[in-house]
Amino acid sequence: MNIVILAAGMGKRMHSALPKVLHPLAGKPLLSHVIDTARTLSPTRLVVVIGHGGDAVRAAVGAPDVQFALQEQQLGTGHALAQALPLLDPSVPTLVLYGDVPLTRASTLRRLTDAAGENAYGILTVTLDDPTGYGRIVRGATGEVVRIVEQKDADDDERLIDEINTGIVVTPTAPLAGWLDALKNDNAQGEYYLTDVVESAIAAGHAVVTAQPDAEWETLGVNSKQQLAVLERVYQRNAADTLLAGGVTLADPARFDLRGSISCGRDVFIDVNCVFEGTVTIGDNVHIGPNCVIRDAEIGAGTRVDAYTHIESASVGAKAVLGPYARLRPGAKLADEVHVGNFVEVKNANIGLGSKANHLSYVGDADIGAGVNIGAGTITCNYDGANKHRTVIEDHVFVGSDTQLVAPVRVGRGVTIAAGTTVWKDVPADTLALNEKTQIAKTGYVRPVKKKS
Ligand code: UD1
Ligand code: CA
Repeated sequence: MNIVILAAGMGKRMHSALPKVLHPLAGKPLLSHVIDTARTLSPTRLVVVIGHGGDAVRAAVGAPDVQFALQEQQLGTGHALAQALPLLDPSVPTLVLYGDVPLTRASTLRRLTDAAGENAYGILTVTLDDPTGYGRIVRGATGEVVRIVEQKDADDDERLIDEINTGIVVTPTAPLAGWLDALKNDNAQGEYYLTDVVESAIAAGHAVVTAQPDAEWETLGVNSKQQLAVLERVYQRNAADTLLAGGVTLADPARFDLRGSISCGRDVFIDVNCVFEGTVTIGDNVHIGPNCVIRDAEIGAGTRVDAYTHIESASVGAKAVLGPYARLRPGAKLADEVHVGNFVEVKNANIGLGSKANHLSYVGDADIGAGVNIGAGTITCNYDGANKHRTVIEDHVFVGSDTQLVAPVRVGRGVTIAAGTTVWKDVPADTLALNEKTQIAKTGYVRPVKKKS
């Protein structure tokens, strides 16, 4: 089967510099949703018709299995399909999709292509309470499809028809060139309508079949930010339902956002307003508090992630405790039972079994062993203004509060670092590290007072 995705339209009503089909839904361009669905049907040719913002579209979705056909002027859906014709295999049918209709299920498309077989013309239709704006399916005395009439060309009786053309069709390919050639633009919009092809197909003796989707939202297109917002909620509700069906507890399925993929173990709890991006894997019995943003992460079984924690490109072991307000940046690797508390930032660092950094610290470019306690206000000074350097802290070190570790530096096993120490050279194992400082008690000091004006 050939698949052609029409995506040349401008999307004026989006009021945006970004081509319409590149607006994200669930974090991914509309057109990418359509391409990904198309791929599941294993097409022999996959062609995207581009026009407005064509270079940006090409750059965003270009892939070895995708070919592009340029429609320089948007003269209608029939004209758009004609641009793709030279790239199609005439011996197999062609399925036409729209780049701005992102949520059609593969099963629905298969139902349509199965119904049409090799030789029939198939139309995906749906019956709407309010069909305004859509092309109407005109049927004859025995219920056979006779033609499709656009809203702007329909008479009063035709406008009462509530079965509409979703735009998704499948057609035999060999005769298509002749049918598209014969299209005329003597209609209300002065366009070459793909919908007029159905009459040529009938005249040429092809059967016309229709199929319907399971859900109306599968056929909804995006022409405005309002419609984009509606489909975003449909997508998110579906994603939430999938998790619920798999046994995840969501505090509120209406306040859950997935922009990528997530897999959860048993007895996972996710509180409100969390956003999951990229690829996220969550183990059994994980509890995620409200307002967390988690991207490309693995979280081990029994870990608790408290409110407002941000995790990006990081992994967390089992039975760890994060947050509230913790931040794991790329390359953070936390072993089991690690605690990372409020206002602690971890970047490109390994933290060993059971180690804790509970308050107000920066741990960057570091290797921290097991059983280490990082006191409040500890900073790894990893950057000398030009290069990054590593801090190594071996097992069972106690780092006193307000310590600066000037990298590169190594702190040996079992070391105790006194509060307020600047560690600028390596510390041998099992020693106490401190900076000599004196505390002075000055008498007779008078605190300044505010001048009276
Ligand atoms: C089309 C159908 C209408 C159907 C409706 C469903 C025709 C003539 N009408 O109308 O029966 O009910 O979709 O949403 O087909 N496009 C191009 N090049 C063009 C024109 C359009 O690539 O020259 C693309 C658009 O980017 C879009 C799709 O084709 O992805 C549909 O175009 P649009 O203008 O939205 O068609 P409608 O007038 O809504
Ligand atoms: Ca449309």
